[in-house]
Amino acid sequence: MSSQADLIVGLQWGDEGKGKIVDHMAQEYDYVCRFAGGHNAGHTIVVGDKKYALHVMPSGILNPNAKNIVGNGVVLSPKDFIKEMEQFEALEGRLFISDKAHLLLPYHALIDQARERLKGKKAIGTTGKGIGPAYGDKVARVGHRVGELLAPAKLTLKIMEFFETNRAIFEAMDIEFPIQEQLLDELSEFKKVLSPFIVDTTLLLWEVLDGGKRVLLEGAQGTMLDIDHGTYPYVTSSSTVSAGACIGLGINPKDIGKATGIAKAYCTRVGNGPFPSEDLGEQGELLRTKGHEFGTTTGRPRRCGWFDAVAMRHALRINGVDQIALMKLDVLDGFSEVKVCVAYHKDGKTFDYVPYDLEGVEPQYRSFAGWDRCEGIQNFDKLPQNAQDYIHALEEIVGAKINIISTSPQREDTILR
Ligand code: GDP
Ligand code: IMO
Ligand code: MG
Repeated sequence: MSSQADLIVGLQWGDEGKGKIVDHMAQEYDYVCRFAGGHNAGHTIVVGDKKYALHVMPSGILNPNAKNIVGNGVVLSPKDFIKEMEQFEALEGRLFISDKAHLLLPYHALIDQARERLKGKKAIGTTGKGIGPAYGDKVARVGHRVGELLAPAKLTLKIMEFFETNRAIFEAMDIEFPIQEQLLDELSEFKKVLSPFIVDTTLLLWEVLDGGKRVLLEGAQGTMLDIDHGTYPYVTSSSTVSAGACIGLGINPKDIGKATGIAKAYCTRVGNGPFPSEDLGEQGELLRTKGHEFGTTTGRPRRCGWFDAVAMRHALRINGVDQIALMKLDVLDGFSEVKVCVAYHKDGKTFDYVPYDLEGVEPQYRSFAGWDRCEGIQNFDKLPQNAQDYIHALEEIVGAKINIISTSPQREDTILR
């Protein structure tokens, strides 16, 4: 009997706590599959006193029984991924990388950084990892795929040729040409390490689903960073929403079962771009300190603010979410007042949806009484009454069930309702 794959997707601007939930759920799945993004993502998983920062490796890797797929929708930097692999043992047979995933090579990062420099004040605030240029090459049909690593001599020639045809651009950006022999050595080394893992993951996944195995699809980033549905151009370069799972893995919409959207009990964003419910005052600072809101990938301080119900409704509809996992509720412990942005105002108009241009919108808040402490609580009924009321109110405002609540970084501090 065939099965459907369940899905995890970020509902805000990334860093919602996807890693913790995928790890928590991975115990119940045979396969965990990443479908988009690259090593711009940083998924933190805490098990006991050990902390793992995963970038491209699916968060199922910490469960010895789960197999892990890096899908074709991912952009893969072999050098960085090999470093990430070194944290884990015995990966053969439980890690599979799509031959159709696109390669992210060092020049992509150099182009990313050069573009950001040239943009000056208008910079996107990317992670500088080369994500935009790698996806750009894919769409412009001048990218290289992971499968090409299996023939390093041929790939070397193609990359040298690519540099030659784009000589003017590389020179203008002050990017050095690779030395052919060195490039060949490097690509040959990548082949040596990665070739046991490179397969047609689409066929594999079809087989796995047809065989009735339990599959979890792991998104990266968040809905508001989606290339089409986020705050363009202040977005990442991939389809971060649930539909991206189909494209990024080669499955169809009917293959998808239950979708869980991950959201923080407040909001954060790294990098530039509109963020209507940002709190630039003391409260925002307090959220940052209490929530340790510093990027997993770049260490940058995250901008902090209140739960944005307008952006949330947008995200819930786009992703087809069945339930929300509300993360980091404990970070709101001790606040006397907790706010939720319920509408935007601009030019005398009220918006209960995300308008085309978010620039200059003013958030309209509803206020809730705070609570003392919910850190580490594992049972809904044991949460302080005001925290329970906050959750019930959020469910009503956004029109979705909050079935999972997280009260600390630890696996077990997770309330299932
Ligand atoms: P991801 O990118 O969505 O996987 O999220 P990140 O790992 O970048 O950021 C989430 C951070 O919050 C990590 O440091 C987690 O360990 C931490 N975290 C997750 N859930 C909770 C929670 O319920 N409470 C607290 N205090 N921290 C949490
Ligand atoms: P996870 O999976 C938060 C942001 C960057 C920048 C924009 C574009 O950990 O939630 P990019 O390097 O992708 O071209 O940068 O997207 N960004 C993220 N913000 N969490 C992430 O991933 C992010 N990945 C990219 O900060 O604003
Ligand atoms: Mg993150």
